[in-house]
Order: sequence, then structure tokens, then C-alpha cells
Amino acid sequence: MTNQRSAAPARLALKGDLLDFTAAPQWARVDDPAVRLRPDHWLLIEHGRIVGAQADDPGDGWAREDHAGRLILPGFVDTHVHSPQLDVIASYGAELLDWLETYTFPAEGRYADPEVARVGAGRFLDALLAHGTTSAVVYPTVHKVSADALFDAAAERGMRLITGKVLMDRHAPDGLRDDVVQAERDCLDLIARHHGRERLAYAVTVRFAPTSTPEQLAMAGALCRADASLYMQTHVAENRGEVEWVAKLFPDARSYLDVYDRVGLLHPRAVLAHGIWLDDTDRRVLARTGAHLAHCPSSNLFLGSGLFDWPGALAAGVRVSAASDVGGGTSLSTQRTLADGYKVQSLNGQRMTAWSGLHAATLGAAQALGLERELGHFGAATLADVCVWDWAVGPVAEGRMALTRDAHERAFAWMTLSDERNLVASYVAGALRYRRP
Ligand code: GUN
Ligand code: ZN
Repeated sequence: MTNQRSAAPARLALKGDLLDFTAAPQWARVDDPAVRLRPDHWLLIEHGRIVGAQADDPGDGWAREDHAGRLILPGFVDTHVHSPQLDVIASYGAELLDWLETYTFPAEGRYADPEVARVGAGRFLDALLAHGTTSAVVYPTVHKVSADALFDAAAERGMRLITGKVLMDRHAPDGLRDDVVQAERDCLDLIARHHGRERLAYAVTVRFAPTSTPEQLAMAGALCRADASLYMQTHVAENRGEVEWVAKLFPDARSYLDVYDRVGLLHPRAVLAHGIWLDDTDRRVLARTGAHLAHCPSSNLFLGSGLFDWPGALAAGVRVSAASDVGGGTSLSTQRTLADGYKVQSLNGQRMTAWSGLHAATLGAAQALGLERELGHFGAATLADVCVWDWAVGPVAEGRMALTRDAHERAFAWMTLSDERNLVASYVAGALRYRRP
């Protein structure tokens, strides 16, 4: 049973091992006080909002679901993912720029058709829910209908969704380019109809510097300056060939990031994917502007883009969230993404704890998006975006889990060995949106 449209019950109580964060864990610290693990507790939800947690059975006045022995987490937030790219996930043999031309642009071209966009949006959001992701910052395509379709599909499911039509007016094939005047009109119309509606927000969506003219970048910056409640999303410094290309296209800019800074695209609601090939000045600019980095380890490994310096970003005061970047990334599963994140840090001679990974996909992402009053943890008054997980599926994971000696070992083994098959149920604002068949 997937994607039930049932309303949230008036009073719902979920029992299990409640795990969330009260603050950011320190890098490489396994016994961190920011971790709040409450084994065998009831999470209490009234009219879709969390109202508390307790060890005692709340009694007959509550619809009770006893998941004792299971893990209960805030729904994951995927801060960078491309909805139409489910169709190109796992495409062979290319680095970023080839991969865009060979696989991605042709797939995105199909989203000019409103019916393709509508069906694709629903399929994509249901897939997120079936992977334990209840909120996302999403790229549709250049076509206005693809953004409309995503907004409508998210509203239907009650999900927090941040998206916007992709801006690209050069270096893209026919059928995938807009122009400054029409793009601005489309953005303003989408903003008027969707931004602030239910749990939806608009992101000015610059694909990346090479596919926008300076005039289009200036228009995007002006949109952000005119309304500080808008988000902005783009890619930055992902791949070395891309960085060289940007240097040629924008010879006056100090760096790739500076292309965005000059036009006013960096601000506290800006989400920049990757940020692998940044320098210290760039990191200071990110910290000063409040723009944050969406780290996409699965994509970075798959496309051979490079190894993100996570502790370097943190030391510079840059916020970091975790993201799948499907279809450059190879899975919508946050656990698989984080397991790849651990491997990326290993290659850098660093160790990423399960706490750093899980925080970056829950409270850390919520804070980076300014949404911590709404989601990302089990604090009272947040909307109950909640997922129930098996700690282990199958004899290998079960055997390993039985031998774990403390909370971090358990969480780390779970992060490394689990995936969407461990998901039992997803709730969005207290309403059941996915249950394992
Ligand atoms: N840079 C510009 N577009 C894309 C995209 O679709 N995926 C990734 N990973 N990087 C990009
Ligand atoms: Zn991307």
C-alpha cells in the first residue's frame, strides 16, 4: 500500500526507539550530547503535530501503533534532487558534462508534455516517500508545466517541497532553453500561485552558471532581492572541467562561486549543490552570506567529480546538508547516500559519524533551510513528518546489529547496511503516506 490519501488521525501515538537531534553533533564525536535517543518511547501526535514523547502508554484515547524494537526518525529531507532524472539514474560511463548531454538533457526534454510532467511528478514524490524522504528541494525541468506538476503533486500529499522552474537560456539543446523575458514571467506566475501555498515554497532555480547568460543570472538575482522569502538553488564547483568552463565564460569573476555572488544569488535561503572545488575565500563568502552546501556523495563518486571537504566547510562556518542528487546520484535512499558520504570522508582521511550524517539529513537540513520550527526533529509543535524503520532486514544485518555495543555502533551499522527495504511506514504531517506492502 503506497501513497494513501488518508487524513491524519486526531490523536496518533507511535512507539519505538525515537532518535533525533537537539543540536549539531561535533565532527567525529561518537558520544555526542546532541543525540537524543529515547528507546521504547511513544511519540504523541495530535492533528498532525508532535505534542510530546513519553515512556508510558498514553491510553485508549490515542490511535496507538506499537513498533517496539524499531527505529523512529524524523522524515529525511533531500536538499538536492532532480525529479525527471529518475529516468537516467544509473547511466553508464560519463563525467558531468558528457552525462548531461548524453543522458540528462534528452530525458528532461520529455517534460515539456504536461501529461509526462504530471505522471512523473507523482511517481517521483511517491518514490521519495517510499524511501523515507518526506521533504525535498527539487529540480524539475526548464518547462513551467514541470514545476506546476511538482507543486500540485506535493500539495496533494501534504509535503514540504521547495522547487522552481529551471532557468537555462544557453548551452542547452532546442526545447530546453528559455529566454530572460519569458523565464521571468514564468517565475513570477509560479511564485504568485505556489510560493507560500500550503507547505510549498519557490526556489529561483539556476541550473548552473554555464547554462545561463549574464543577463539571466542578473534577472535571477533581482528576483531574490525583491523577495527575501524565496529560496535559490543551483550547482557549484562540482567537476574540474565544469570549473574551467565557467572560468572561460566569466573571465571577470574571481571564482565560480563569485559568478553567483556578484548578482545577489547567495543568501540564507540559497542551496548550492556540491561545492567540491572551492577555496578558502569561497568558504568565507558562503559563511558570510549564509548560503549552504548540499553535499551529494553518491553523485560525486558515481560521476567521478571529487571528494568534498566536509570538515573544512564546517570549520569555515558553512552549513552542510546531505542530498541524493539523483540521477547523478544512484539512489533516493538517504542511508545509501550517507554510507557513500562516509566513504568519501574516508578517502579524505576523515571519519564521518552516523550522527553527522543523520543530522545533515534531518535537523541540519531543516536549519539550513530555515524550517526547524516545522520539521526535522521531534520537538513539540513541529509537523509530524515521521518514518518508522526496521533496525535490520536479513540475516547479515540482523547478525551485525545483535553484536553492536552502543548507540553509535548501532546507528552506524544501520546507516551503512540499511536502505528503503527497512522502511515500514512514512507519515507526513501525521497522515500515513507509505506503508510497506
Ligand atoms: N550541473 C548542472 N546540471 C546538473 C545536473 O543535472 N546534475 C548534476 N549532478 N550536476 C549538474
Ligand atoms: Zn544536481
